[in-house]
Amino acid sequence: MRSNQVLDFLEFVEGQKNQSVRQLLDKILHQSRLMTKAEAGTIFIARSRGAKRWLEAASAQNDAIPVSRADFTVPIGPGTIAGYVADRGKTLLVDDVYGIPARSPYKFNPKFEHKSYKTRSMFCFPLKNFQDEVIGVVQLINCRPNKSRPPVPFKAAVADLVAPIARVVGHSLERAEMLEQIKLKNLKLRERNRQLDEQRAHIEALQGETEEAFQLSIRLLARASEIHDEETGNHIVRVNEYSYYIAKTLGMPDTWCDEMRYSAQLHDVGKMSVDSAVLKKKGGLDPAEREEMNRHTVYGYRILSASPRLKLGAEIALSHHEKWDGTGYPNGTKGEAIPISARIVQIADVYDALRSQRPYKPAFDHEKSVHIITIGDERIDPRAHFDPQIIELFKHNHLEFDAIWRRLHD
Ligand SMILES: [Fe+2]
Ligand SMILES: [Fe+2]
Repeated sequence: MRSNQVLDFLEFVEGQKNQSVRQLLDKILHQSRLMTKAEAGTIFIARSRGAKRWLEAASAQNDAIPVSRADFTVPIGPGTIAGYVADRGKTLLVDDVYGIPARSPYKFNPKFEHKSYKTRSMFCFPLKNFQDEVIGVVQLINCRPNKSRPPVPFKAAVADLVAPIARVVGHSLERAEMLEQIKLKNLKLRERNRQLDEQRAHIEALQGETEEAFQLSIRLLARASEIHDEETGNHIVRVNEYSYYIAKTLGMPDTWCDEMRYSAQLHDVGKMSVDSAVLKKKGGLDPAEREEMNRHTVYGYRILSASPRLKLGAEIALSHHEKWDGTGYPNGTKGEAIPISARIVQIADVYDALRSQRPYKPAFDHEKSVHIITIGDERIDPRAHFDPQIIELFKHNHLEFDAIWRRLHD
């Protein structure tokens, strides 16, 4: 082997940067055999787990007989030729494997020999990494420059030339293995990210469904409370919209406004629990019946306060009949002690009742309704009943209320 051959080989190995480890091993074995006229050969990769170290055959070639993928292992240490070379980290030339002396620390194991093949000469050298550790072994078998003649011993000179090759091959092998590991890690990371994306989409879909189910069930709850009620149709939907509009115009936070938009409709949910004889009674109520009717506020609070998402609804149900001057029910709460949510729904509820036909009154037009809420009539005294700030807001924006009425009237 001449030195320009060595250079060719080094150039070859350096040119194989983006190969898979398996392909690289096959090519290295092939090139090594061409250079040394070896008829056959095997490349082993060193593996370890804890104190246990062994060689794994990674590529095997033989020009004389077909060989299947190498898949055998040998322990690192004295015993086999490859195991001994890996252990010592030194090159080994054997002229005739059947002539190895019995006292030698390595032996040829004919067990690995193919039935129709006979190993004679052997040239075995270690592959080393950047830290000078053995990471593999190249085992070349039967130097055969002339195919028509039996194998001859490998020349001692190849052993001297192989040292730089072994190092460069070791380095590029290590690099290829690192690259493969990085690729594998990237692949796993990408797969993990894909799974996370999928999970996120799934959770979002579920949340969407849950949200829809939640909205539907509170709508049904609000509807159920109207069964015996004069307030039917779109009343609850419009109260939601007026309340949302007032909340927005007051400059309340967005999430709070959104919550108002579905909580306002729950103001009369407690009517479900009111004695149905009282609820269905036509004409005036006696004081006891009036008291039972007024308890729909407390009943509503009890129904809704169990759910954390309905806290606002519960507070509205409890306080939507309180009055600014403290003459309302159930607690006679006064002024700003009445939750703002309830003060909002109160005006929304009253405006819609004025616009609607009820057993005790005809439907009023927008102008008359605005007059009653801002100036008053025999039943409603706005300054005593409503939050003055919200009356002001209503005065300036009353057309918006009319627009909602028109858009959503029955
Ligand atoms: Fe009510
Ligand atoms: Fe109402």
